[in-house]
Order: sequence, then C-alpha cells, then structure tokens
Amino acid sequence: MGEEGETFKIEKQEAKRDIFQAGGDIKITYQQPSKMEPLTFPSTPSLHNQTPPEPNFVGRKAMLETISDWYTNPEVRIGALIGWGGVGKSAIVRNWYDTLESNGIKPDGIFWWGFYRNAYLEQFLNALLRYVSQGRIEPETIKSIWEKTDRIKEYIHQGTYLIILDGLEQMQKSASGDEFGKMIQREFTELLHYFVDVPKGLCLITTRYSLKDLDEWYERSYKKLSLIDLSIPDSLLMLRGRGVKGSEDDMTEVIKNYKGHALSLTSVAGYLNRYYDGDIKQAPEVEFILGDRERFKDVNKLLRKYAEKMSASELIFLKIFSLFRREVTENDFAGVFQHKPFFKKESFTKEKMFNDVLVKMSKLDFRDQINGLVDWRLISYDKTKKSIYNTSIDQRLF
Ligand SMILES: Nc1ncnc2c1ncn2[C@@H]1O[C@H](COP(=O)(O)OP(=O)(O)O)[C@@H](O)[C@H]1O
Ligand SMILES: [Mg+2]
Repeated sequence: MGEEGETFKIEKQEAKRDIFQAGGDIKITYQQPSKMEPLTFPSTPSLHNQTPPEPNFVGRKAMLETISDWYTNPEVRIGALIGWGGVGKSAIVRNWYDTLESNGIKPDGIFWWGFYRNAYLEQFLNALLRYVSQGRIEPETIKSIWEKTDRIKEYIHQGTYLIILDGLEQMQKSASGDEFGKMIQREFTELLHYFVDVPKGLCLITTRYSLKDLDEWYERSYKKLSLIDLSIPDSLLMLRGRGVKGSEDDMTEVIKNYKGHALSLTSVAGYLNRYYDGDIKQAPEVEFILGDRERFKDVNKLLRKYAEKMSASELIFLKIFSLFRREVTENDFAGVFQHKPFFKKESFTKEKMFNDVLVKMSKLDFRDQINGLVDWRLISYDKTKKSIYNTSIDQRLF
C-alpha cells in the first residue's frame, strides 16, 4: 500500500475511533500481509469451548446434509442454525464436524468458538486474529477492536476457513423490538459483514435469535435453518439409547409431554436411570405448554421435580453453581463450594454455615457427586480445561 493508502487507512481508523471509541488510542504499527511470507495451509484447528460429541446422536440427517451443501455451495458464506436453547443446535454442528474427513471436506483452517462459555468479544477476536495470522500478529499489542476486525478481514481472504460461532445469541440483543437479534457490538456486525462477503469458506453459526444484521444477504450468501424439536421416532431412539425402558406408548406420551425437547429428554433419561432403573413410567409429570421464548419456565418445572429427589449436598452445590451460571474450574471448587469461614467466632461456629454439607465432604465424595450430576446431564465436564459448566439453558433454577 502506498503512502496515500496508508494515510487514508489512518483517517478511516480515526473516524471510527471518534465515533465509537472516543479516547481510545490507535497504533498502526503492522505490516501488510502481502509483504510477509505466505501463510501455510492447512493449519491445525483452533477449538475453544467446543461442544463434546454426543454418543447417542440421533436423526437430523437432512440438516447435516444441508450444512455440507452450504459448505460446498460457492455462493454461501454464512449458514445459521436457529432455534430455542436445548433443541440440539450445537449437537448437530459437533456431529457434522466429526464427519468432515469422511465427507471429504478439507478447509485450510477451522476455528470454533463457543460463546456460551466465553462471551467476550475481545478474547474471541484475539484468538481468531492469532489463528488466521498464524501467529504473525500478537493481538494484545493492537489496542483498537476495529483494527483487530480489519486485520482479521485481511487474513481471512487468504484461506478457505471454516469458522464456527456456537451460541452466538450471547452476543446479540435479546430485548423484543426493532433491534431484536442485532449484534450488541457494532464491531461484531462489521465482522459478520466481512464473513458474508469473503470469496471462500463458510461461517457456521448456532443461535437462539434470528440474525437481523444479515437480512440483506438472506438467500444469497446467507442461509439459515430453523431448528425444531426432535421427532417422536428420533426421541424414542434417543431415550432407548440412553438406557430408558418401557413400552412405546408410555415413551411416546412422555416425549409428547416434553415436546421432544432434546435437552429435557436427555436429563430425564439421566434421572430415570439414577432413581428408577430407567423406568419411563416414573418420568416427572410435567407438560410443556409454552412457546419457544418461554420454554425455560417449563424446563424449570422439570428441574424442580428433580430437586425433590436430590440430596441436600447436591442441591446446595447446584445453588452455588448457578450463581456462576456458566463455568467453574476445578481450582475454584475448594475455594468456593467448600469454603470455610475465615475466622472462628463463637457465633459463627454455633450457627451452621449454609454450605456445611459441602465443607464436610471428602474430596473423593465431592468428585463423585460431580460425576453423578454429569451423568445425569445437569452439568457438563470439560476434560481439557478441568472445568464444569452448565448445560445450554440459563439455569437460575436452584
Ligand atoms: N440429535 C440428537 N441426538 C441425541 N442427543 C441430542 C441430539 N440433539 C441434542 N441432543 C442432546 O440434547 C442436549 C442439548 O443439545 P444442544 O445441542 O446443546 O442444544 P442447543 O445447542 O440447541 O442449545 C445435549 O445434551 C445433546 O447431547
Ligand atoms: Mg448450543
């Protein structure tokens, strides 16, 4: 780029700064990618909070094929799976991801970001920029968010990327009205506009809310699928796969009551296995009646039934855990869940601490309890990060 181009760029950056980031410093110290050594492909996938594989995955065949079609269709740049929490969006994408090789899909690079557990724009941009620049750029040295997005844009043009943005609703506006579904941060809107206009690759999104910022591109370079609950035959397969026993009629009744909601059916299977040897007849009698946006209320009814059977220590554990809402690492366990009072005043020791049952638990019992809740599918465990996180519904329940 000549001097004139450079000046223009600086002016553009400054204009952006003035409008959106009054007071922020902008340093333009980078080199143009074209002046550097070419990038090498393919690069090893960069996966952040990836959804684990579902061993009992059922159905969704047509959708999996549609996603492959999006990838191979030269017109499509962004594909979105849109649907209520817990219907199975992330599970589908993970299943599709696991078949990339056998489907002969070989992107130059794969980047997966789970927003459900990390909804910080800057951390996301840093990781993406580091990845697409193959370490040539140290994102932390760039102060402006706008500049980071610009730099990502430059690099993204150089390869065929598969970029997965999982749980993007965390970054979208959720209040009903004209703005519903728009990105909260303008920089993110701009980034989506880059992605939808790149010459190659696919950005695959899962979200609860429609992507209003992409309306203009709909049915051209932007495609979407609305995700609905599991069908009755698929739900049957799933329950049986999870070890639930009973007649088809009894199972069908439960599936209908829960409207085929994947997340609820998985946890009900865990509940039945744990307390009733998998007997479907013992499924809590809860009828899902509400529409998509209020379904969490139905799910809460189910969770309250679970709570009736839970041990006191599990209940306290989940109560503390739901204060965190998203993720807690193993290191926090002792410090938070089994926290003892700092000083031993008479009044303190006489009164029972609310987390007394947890404080008294041995490390081993504590771990067993966590494993039990993971099997039940009320919480999940991330082996690589050694952390527990909650399932895809905002659990402010216990
Ligand atoms: N097709 C499926 N087969 C089996 N289990 C599924 C399926 N879809 C979803 N599930 C299970 O349901 C739960 C919620 O699914 P998830 O993909 O996390 O929902 P979402 O991303 O839409 O919030 C997970 O435990 C998942 O494993
Ligand atoms: Mg999800």
